[in-house]
Order: sequence, then structure tokens, then C-alpha cells
Amino acid sequence: MAQTITEETAVQKVLVARAAFPDIVDRLRAHFEVQDNPDDEVWSPEGLRNALQGKVGLVATGSERIDEALLAANPQLKAVCNMAVGYNNIDVAACTARGIVVTNTPDVLTETTADFGFALMMAAARRIAESEHYLRAGKWTKWRYDMFVGPDVHGATLGILGMGRIGQAIARRGAHGFGMKVIYHNRSRLPETTEARCGARYVDKATLLREADHLVIVVPYSPSSHHAIGAVELAQMKRTATLTNIARGGVVDDAALAQALRDGLIAAAGLDVFEGEPQVHPHLLTVPNVVLTPHIASASVATRRAMANLAVDNLIAALGCGPDAGRPPTPVNPEVLKR
Ligand code: DGY
Repeated sequence: MAQTITEETAVQKVLVARAAFPDIVDRLRAHFEVQDNPDDEVWSPEGLRNALQGKVGLVATGSERIDEALLAANPQLKAVCNMAVGYNNIDVAACTARGIVVTNTPDVLTETTADFGFALMMAAARRIAESEHYLRAGKWTKWRYDMFVGPDVHGATLGILGMGRIGQAIARRGAHGFGMKVIYHNRSRLPETTEARCGARYVDKATLLREADHLVIVVPYSPSSHHAIGAVELAQMKRTATLTNIARGGVVDDAALAQALRDGLIAAAGLDVFEGEPQVHPHLLTVPNVVLTPHIASASVATRRAMANLAVDNLIAALGCGPDAGRPPTPVNPEVLKR
């Protein structure tokens, strides 16, 4: 597509690291010289470092590691705009120290991601994937009273670890749609009005693990949440419970989870994120009572477009262009903007 570059920004070059909606990438071309990646090549760290040479802005996804080595090799960089709400792929402190604006895409994906978390929890509880595999394998020859019986979702106790926007949206679904008793654990307790809106009660982590019939993990990844759920925690859960992880790989110890599923320590799990994804722990691939999806919780068309548009809005504004010049809508390190 022909580029229309405005006078004041003609020299600014930006990189879109992964394929994205072409019409949304084109919005950047009105302001910048754009290198994109329509073939969606997954670059090595060195490939990304090289592609970033001379670029002042980057649209990244959660798959690109933005670390000090990358920044040191690209001192011209001014803005990193993640097309994800999570930003554990970015060394924010290193960016801040260098005066680089970091942005993410909160809010626009909350409801879609909560829908998916709920769907995954229900699929695990009601054994949807497991029974579908059975049917496709031609094993269904008769109805049986105990065929693929599992725990109920309605009226059960929903436990939520991490009560940010997505956790709250899941709580609302559980409390108001499915008549669930909702308990949560979070770094800090929510205001009472928010708890009332979500129909949720704060408990300590041990109570959450002990009482939840369905535990949903929505806590962001950080060194302090690494393996927040491991063998010790799984052993505290009900044997009839399910666990759903839509947060990040690494929050759950996948090897310990596979073992717990195999040993019947919990009934089932639903996982959208994995340690070392897109690799999946081989033991998870062989246990039947886990539903596995490839990190698609935010993947509705409308939401993925909204995420891409927000990342582009952020980059345009962060690089001093457009109506919000200098005021990107969703900065992660707003202190950089004040300098
Ligand atoms: C997010 O936005 O963080 C989703 O997990 C997609 O990466």
C-alpha cells in the first residue's frame, strides 16, 4: 500500500514484530515508515534485534522478549507497545531506565477472556474435550448412567486466584449467571463495593485451595507468582476440583499438575497457557482429563481487532503523533511520559 507520511514524522521508523490485521497496521503508515511481518515469521532474539535497528517504535506481542540486551542494541528505541494486557515479556524497569514508554492493552479483552476462562472451566468440569475424543474415536456404542460424569458448575464454589479486571469478570459470571459461591484470593483485598458487585468473598490462599470446586488462575506472571500452584498447593485441593489457567505459563507448575491429574489429586484441568509455550509439557499431552488450548483466551475477532487498534493508538501517541500526541491511552510506565 502507498504510504502517506506526514512532514513532521517522516523520519520515524517503526517495527510491527508479528503479523496483524493489515488494515490496522496501515494506520501506522499514515505517520511512520513501517516494517511489518505479514508472513508472521517468528524471529530469534538476534533476528528481532536486527529488525529493530533504526526503529523508534515497536508493536510487540507477548511472544517477543524485550530485554536489556535488545534495548542496548537499539538505543534509538522510544516506545514498546504490547498487543497484550500481560507484559511479563518486557523488562519494564530496563525500559523505564532508558526513557522508553511501554504500553499494553487492558480492558478491551476483559469480557472476551472471561468468557473463555469460563468456557474452559466448564469444558474441564463437564469433560467436553475428553468425551468428544471418545466419540470421534468410535468408542460410543451405548448410553451409560456414569459415562463422563463430572462435577456440577452451577451452585458450586468458584475460587479465583488473582482478582484484577478479568478475575472480576469471571466472578460476575459465576455469581450472577451460575448461582456460584465465589471466593477469591488476591495480593490485596478489593473494596467492599467491588466485592459486592462481583458477589465475591476474600479468603486466604489456603482456604481458596481447600474450598474451591473450580479454581481459576488469573494472576499476572511475575517472579513472586512463579509456581504459585505446585505440588503442595494441588495436594490441598479437593479431589473433585478442577483447575483452569488462563493467566500465564509458569504460574502453575505444569509437571506437578500433570502428575496431580494422573494421580487423581484433582479431577480435571483446563489450560490455555503453558510453561515454555508453544511447547507443552509432554505429560500434559498424555493425561486425558485436561483440556488444552493454544493461548486463545482473547481470540474473538472483535477483541483481537480492538487489541491491535489500541496497540497502534498507543504507538502513534507515544511517538508524538495523532490527536493524543504524547498521551498514549494505556501506558504501563506513565512516569516516563512526565520526563
Ligand atoms: C494477553 O493479552 O496478555 C493475552 O494473554 C494475550 O497474550
